[in-house]
Amino acid sequence: MNQKALLYNGKSKQIFATEGQNFVIMSYKDDETAYYGVKKSTIPNKGALNNKISSLIFKYLEQNGIYTHFVEQLDENKQLCRRAKSLPLEFIVRNVIAGTLSRRLDIEEGTVPESTIYEICLKSDILRDPLINHYHVLALGYATEETLREIRSIMQKTNELLTKLLKSINIDLIDFKLEFGFDTEGKLMLIDEISPDTARFWDSESHEHLDRDLFRRDLGDVESAYKEVLTRLESALQNG
Ligand code: C5P
Repeated sequence: MNQKALLYNGKSKQIFATEGQNFVIMSYKDDETAYYGVKKSTIPNKGALNNKISSLIFKYLEQNGIYTHFVEQLDENKQLCRRAKSLPLEFIVRNVIAGTLSRRLDIEEGTVPESTIYEICLKSDILRDPLINHYHVLALGYATEETLREIRSIMQKTNELLTKLLKSINIDLIDFKLEFGFDTEGKLMLIDEISPDTARFWDSESHEHLDRDLFRRDLGDVESAYKEVLTRLESALQNG
């Protein structure tokens, strides 16, 4: 499918139209950002690595009954995706306390809560993705009750599937961010990406970070950690 006009130029990805009304091409950049775009850099190969990682994960989720925008990986940096009308929200699933939650509530990173924590943020760099709750979502018309219910169920299932997959390759799934949109027929689907840029992956034994915290906190080589995640995922999913 041929690439047409640029529709969206984001911090880490670009979206292009195609000649088909129902499809877009998503292209991953090497640009890395943190703290709502305040810290910026370029990491060689990062776009290609995240494209491969996210393609493998989305394919695995699709095979396990989660409807997503992913159609196929086209080349090193690009994927063919279903066109989405996206919700202006980010949904975070937390299995272990880390990052902003650790800072906000002054709880030590690595603490395991009694149950999974689900958060909703408004997608806005200017406002620094403020945390909101389902009352805000309903009252301000960001999504309906029915959509929120459906999202909650997809988040739970995605968390179960990913936790199991990653555990098999010695990675603990600490937390991750999901985005949702509607396809051209109005059906809810999982969109965007799932990669070490949008999730926290800790090595199960050494507890080393294999994710964007390496960049955020200057902890080490981002490219080799993302490569390690890809190699382990390929070994788990090689027959898929
Ligand atoms: O930064 P925070 O601890 O709130 O992030 C929770 C999870 O959501 C992390 O895995 C982070 O990478 C992801 N996230 C994201 N994009 C954002 C905010 C958080 O991918 N805008």
